[in-house]
Parts: sequence; C-alpha cells; structure tokens
Amino acid sequence: MTLSTTSPSKDSQNPNAVDATNQGLLSRIRLPALHARITSANEAANWIQNGMTVGMSGFTRSGDAKMVPLALAERALHDPFQITLMTGASMGGDVDKLLTESHVIARRMPFQSDPVLRAAINRGEVMFIDQHLSETVEHLRAGQIAPIDVAIIEAIAITESGAIIPSTSVGNSASFAILAEKVIVEINLSQPLALEGMHDIFIPGKRPHRDPIPVMSAHDRVGTTAIQIDPAKIVAIVITDKLDSASTVTPPDAETDAIAGHLIAFFEQEVAAGRLSNALLPLQAGIGSVANAVLAGFKDSPFRHLTMYSEVLQDSTFDLFDAGILDFASGSSITLSSKKHDEVFNHIERYKDKLILRPQEVSNHPEVIRRLGIIGINTALEVDIYGNVNSTHTGGTHMMNGIGGSGDFARNAYLSIFTTKSVAKGGKISSIVPMVSHVDHTEHDVDIIVTEVGLADLRGLAPRERAPCIIQNCVAEPYRSMLFEYIKEAQTRGGQTPHVLEKAFAWHTRYRETGSMLKSTE
Ligand code: COA
Repeated sequence: MTLSTTSPSKDSQNPNAVDATNQGLLSRIRLPALHARITSANEAANWIQNGMTVGMSGFTRSGDAKMVPLALAERALHDPFQITLMTGASMGGDVDKLLTESHVIARRMPFQSDPVLRAAINRGEVMFIDQHLSETVEHLRAGQIAPIDVAIIEAIAITESGAIIPSTSVGNSASFAILAEKVIVEINLSQPLALEGMHDIFIPGKRPHRDPIPVMSAHDRVGTTAIQIDPAKIVAIVITDKLDSASTVTPPDAETDAIAGHLIAFFEQEVAAGRLSNALLPLQAGIGSVANAVLAGFKDSPFRHLTMYSEVLQDSTFDLFDAGILDFASGSSITLSSKKHDEVFNHIERYKDKLILRPQEVSNHPEVIRRLGIIGINTALEVDIYGNVNSTHTGGTHMMNGIGGSGDFARNAYLSIFTTKSVAKGGKISSIVPMVSHVDHTEHDVDIIVTEVGLADLRGLAPRERAPCIIQNCVAEPYRSMLFEYIKEAQTRGGQTPHVLEKAFAWHTRYRETGSMLKSTE
C-alpha cells in the first residue's frame, strides 16, 4: 500500500517522528505504513488553515480530540486564523474555552456547553448553529453545508486496513472521517483497548433511495466495529494519554428525588393499566444533572430488565447495571464523573456485552426512535401553561447549551417527558410561565411534564385542559395562583389557546428589571 500526500509545511520531514516499536504502539497502529505519520500535535495542527471547516470527535465531553485543538489555540495566539468547528456535541478539556479565547472559532455547530464559548455566542462573536444532533451529517452528506476539510478523531487504535476504532464516543466521528478530505487521528493510550468491539458503525445510505436502518431492538448490531476510510487520507497521527474530562453533573437532591418518585409512580400506573410491561420500553435520558438524577431514581423502582436507547450514557446507566435493573444500553457516548470513571473503566469487560456505541445519527434517528417506542426523558429550562418547552434560551435571548438530541427524541418518542425543577435561582424564576420565551419543543411534542411538585399527564388534553393540569400538578405557590389568575383573564378573551398577549412575557420582563418574577407584593 502506498501512502502519499502533500506535507503541511516545508520542514515536515517529521522531526517529531516516534518509533512505533519502542513506544509499544504496534497494537494501536496496526497498519505499519502509517507509523511514519506519527507526529506532534503542533505539526499536525499545520494541516488546518484559515477558513477551513474542521470536524472534531467529541460528544458530551467524551472521546474528544484533545491535543491538536490545543495546538491550534496556541498557534492562533501569534498567527491568527479562524475556522468553522463541528463536533458531535460538547467538548471537554477546555477545548471550546481555549479556542474561543484565541478567537479561532468563527462558526460552531451543532452543540456546546462551555461558559466562555457561550458568552462569546451571546455577545454575537461566534455564530452558533444550534441543530438537532441527528441532522448535522445529513446536511454534510447532501452537500447542504460546507464540506469538512480536516477531521480530527480520537481513537483507541487503527486496524490493519487503516480503519479507525473510536474511543468513548462515536458521535459524528464516522461521517466526519468518511467525508473529510484529510484525517488526523489522536491515538489515546489512556483509553483501554478493551473498548474495541463496543462500537457499531452504520452509515445510512443516500436519500431518496435509502434502505431502512435495520435496528429492531436496542441491542441490535448492524454495522462494523471501526470506521473504514482510505488510510491515505490519514495525514497525521498524534499520541496522547489525556483522560476524558469528568462530567460536571451534580448529585441528586430532594427535588430531583421527588421528580424521579413522580415518574416512577406514573410508570407503575401505566404498567397497572396494561400499557407498559414491567420492563417499560427503551429509555432515553437527556444530559444534565436533572436527567441523571431521575434515571438514578430507577434504582429504587420495581421495574426490571430495563433497556436504554439513548445518546449519552452517564453515571446512572452504570449504577443501574450494577443494581441488576438495566440489561442493555445503546448510546453514542459514555460520560462519567471522575469517581465513576475508574469504577467503570477498570472493569470495562464487565459491561462490554451490555453496551453499544453508535453514530449519533443512528442513536437519534427518528425512524428508529419511532419504531422502538422510546420513552424520552429530557430537561426543560422553562415550560408554558400549554406545554410548549424551552430547553435552550434564558430570558428568551441567551443561549445555554443547545437543543442537542432532545428534539430528535421528543418528536418521535412513544412517551415524550420533560422534567424541570418548578423554580430556578432560589425561587426568583418560575420554570412554568404563561408563554415560553423561546420554543424548542411545541405542545404537540410533549406528553408529560414533571416537577418536584408533581406530574401533568397531557395526553389527549386540549389546550384549555392542559393549562389547569400543568398549573395544578406542577407549580407551587405563589406562582400557582399567579398562573390561575393569568388563565382566568386569558379565557375571557376566548380562543383555542387563550392568552393575554400584552402580559404573556410580563414575568420575564419583571425578572430582567427587578431580579425576580414575583411581584413585589408576593
Ligand atoms: N431561566 C434561567 N435560568 C434557568 C432556568 C430558567 N427558566 N431554569 C434553570 N436555569 C438555570 C439554573 O439555575 C442553572 O444555572 P446555574 O448553572 O447558574 O446554577 C442552569 O440553568 C442549569 O439548570 P439545572 O437545574 O442545573 O439543570 P441541568 O443541569 O439538568 O440542565 C438544561 C438543564 C436544560 C440546561 C440541560 O438539560 C440542557 O442543556 N438541555 C438541552 C439539551 C438536551 O436536552 N439534550 C438532551 C439530549 S443531548
């Protein structure tokens, strides 16, 4: 096999070349012709130039490119340049922060969760395209957005045929590598080789003559265990042993325990009514502290032989495995706290036959979600009295993280559930408001709302029935009385979905002006 490609810079006779045999890398880079491509992060970063579109591995802080992005940030300090950065979802290791601080990111998609990048987005300095996680590679594949120039993919190994074996996430890595002109691989020695075999790489065909995705149950394997590309595209290989960043979820508290309790009581009723079995249906749980805590609450439930068909697998997934309650989990990434990381990765063999990591366009594919009958549990920032949900914007204008996969699941789930604490910022914000200040999920995609106060089952209810159901079950005083007052006035004006439009955002305005949604008399 001949591997030829143009070098990124004149002096790239590879002064940083690593002797693969001395480094024990033979088991990691199994195609000998690629050993000459091992280089430093700085040298690899030279392949990326101003104006390029770069696709990096990384999904909820796991399996992300860790070395080359930092070299890019450093280079930009003395040689300014800008790129469009695409990933699977959020990056760890301060990558988004450092790239933002050195002004490398002109455009970013489809998700982020970094406070520094978030602030730059909200100042209008970075153009953020907040996109359903299943859609990015569909747009790329169809040429609807600019193509990827360089993909940077973290891997545990490269096979004899040059196929890339991802690490703790698959995300968009497979399609990025397949579609990119050039590929840089970061081989991470801290990621165990035992992960090999856990991935299931399946890429849907081109539309309109695409075959169905043959996933008939959460545990179905339908693809390959590595990303096959032409190895000649691999222009650089960087060696690292940096760990994934630990997840930042906070542990369960009294409110999240109450939310979990309401949900479990609801599922018990569904089982009693014969609509669900004791194994429920495959569960999806969104990102964040609330979703993780709610899933953890299943430990004390009567349900058994649960399965997950989700995207991010957090600490709670492994707690449920250990408790003997969860049989199988399909996701796109594994994101753990530092404590859980060692427990899981020191015994990864224990979980190996219980896990699949898929591309996010398969984990989040509407066709599969609808077919399997997923129970989707996602988190709202705010919900309105009719069940419209805002998951992304504070105060109607400022980006938090992004819609992520919540829309992929909410629209297509068997049961679309949204959880939120009934208040935020010490009670100064009500999470249930007259009208959401930004809409991510419309009332048509929302079946159940749960807060620590209780659960509103909106199935089969018209808007005039949904409002009292949500207010009565999910809101505590004094916001409960304020909302009842609002709908009383709204209903005097009539309509399918009554509102007092000039007052619909009065609560948000009051919060901006006074620091609280409460009236001074409340
Ligand atoms: N207005 C303003 N701020 C609000 C708010 C509201 N209505 N409701 C909550 N917040 C704030 C909280 O005070 C907290 O702020 P802090 O970080 O300064 O303490 C922050 O939002 C996060 O809230 P928290 O209650 O800790 O929830 P979380 O960690 O579970 O995150 C989301 C909640 C909505 C931000 C998160 O789930 C998310 O980004 N979801 C969208 C993406 C998604 O659902 N993906 C699913 C599949 S990937």
